Amino acid sequence: MKFFIDTANLEQIKEAQALGILDGVTTNPSLMAKEGITGVHNIIKHYKTICDLVIGDVSAEVIATDFEGMVKQGEELAALNPQIVVKLPMLKEGIKACKYFSDKGIKTNMTLVFSAGQALLAAKAGATYVSPFIGRLDDISTDGLHLIAEIRQIYDNYNFQTEILAASVRHTMHIIDCAKLGADVITGPLKAIEGLLSHPLTDIGLAKFLADFKKGN
Ligand code: E4P
Repeated sequence: MKFFIDTANLEQIKEAQALGILDGVTTNPSLMAKEGITGVHNIIKHYKTICDLVIGDVSAEVIATDFEGMVKQGEELAALNPQIVVKLPMLKEGIKACKYFSDKGIKTNMTLVFSAGQALLAAKAGATYVSPFIGRLDDISTDGLHLIAEIRQIYDNYNFQTEILAASVRHTMHIIDCAKLGADVITGPLKAIEGLLSHPLTDIGLAKFLADFKKGN
């Protein structure tokens, strides 16, 4: 299972990379804006910096919503670094662009996926990754994890190679549940990833070991 961090915050990306378990980064226009990164020039510069910080895939999202615009922006993004994965919105034009890029051997991530049908189309178009947004489904009282299970079943039925990138992961249990369901990748905040470390018995056990060591020294 791959772990991506879902942020444009360089400090958090560095921290996750230092853990040694990071496989990539996902960003989106909202995450860029949150870090105060605005304007095409600064956004491009930021992508380059992220690529230099991590080993692995870096999803960079197009802003265009028409095929020609997506192709132009996607080609510009892909030219920045071989680590770049062109992130495309789940629209009719996005599917066309996905097919265009997969035929050219350029990695893609179909984003804003909320149904099994959308995920099926993304796989048919040859997407490298499909991003079902589980947290946002949970937000509207719909079971986001159920969608992961549905997509897993469909992809396994036909041996689709598109990787299921569980996105909009909000907390640690989402990661565990996605792992149980066979998601290929999760992308989430550092806090959710670091939550996997925590267990009170680990802390209690370590405190006891250290105290016992001190007694003998
Ligand atoms: C995925 O690539 C998106 O950037 C992200 O996971 C969205 O998460 P959110 O619903 O927490 O904004």
